[in-house]
Amino acid sequence: EIKACLFDLDGVLVDTARYHYIAWRELAEELGFDFTEHDNERLKGVSRAASLNILLEIGGITLGEEEKARLAEQKNNRYVEYIAKMDSSEILPGALDFLKECREHSIKVALGSASKNAMTILNNTGLTPYFDAIIDGTHTSAAKPDPEVFLLGAQAVNIAPEHCVVFEDAEAGILAATRAGMRSVGIGSPETLGAANLVVPSLQQISVDALRESFAAI
Ligand code: G6P
Ligand code: MG
Repeated sequence: EIKACLFDLDGVLVDTARYHYIAWRELAEELGFDFTEHDNERLKGVSRAASLNILLEIGGITLGEEEKARLAEQKNNRYVEYIAKMDSSEILPGALDFLKECREHSIKVALGSASKNAMTILNNTGLTPYFDAIIDGTHTSAAKPDPEVFLLGAQAVNIAPEHCVVFEDAEAGILAATRAGMRSVGIGSPETLGAANLVVPSLQQISVDALRESFAAI
């Protein structure tokens, strides 16, 4: 039986991936190299500090910890400027309806995001009231694919992992769900999310009934 749905934020509920991308690309430009949308795939679901390390690796640049902290802050300041202007129009198709449907079926709803900006995004888009628990980058010590963020989410809503379903757009997130002992639904393409139990293009293609049918065993 499905008793809780755990949602990643960026790329699953809201369209923030492009803001992350623009902010990282601006930083790369300043450092003197190109950062493509293809490169950006590697940053999805990855923490801010780890993202910067990947970016610098792509640019072939080695920097000290202090300078890296400064650049991460610079990127985040830009990103925060973008998300400050967000509103409900940036909720991804099908997300709001599915969150409401979960509530109607008394399925617990939790957030499991690596972002330290999750609260700003949830508040600006009006999504906060749909959650029973919110676990974000300010609560975790280990990044996906570590299962910590989802295990904390399940604990917060008091549901055992085997009754939880995770919704993720990043490969690292699907792996985190599996390691947490949870089922997963990949939001995006089967090419990158093949490890998920089910893959759909967006939350528009999912309903509680369809989910129950797919995961009849739980
Ligand atoms: C999500 C996004 C990543 C981002 C990370 C940290 O997982 O998919 O692209 O780097 O959150 O976000 P933050 O807002 O804390 O920099
Ligand atoms: Mg994501």
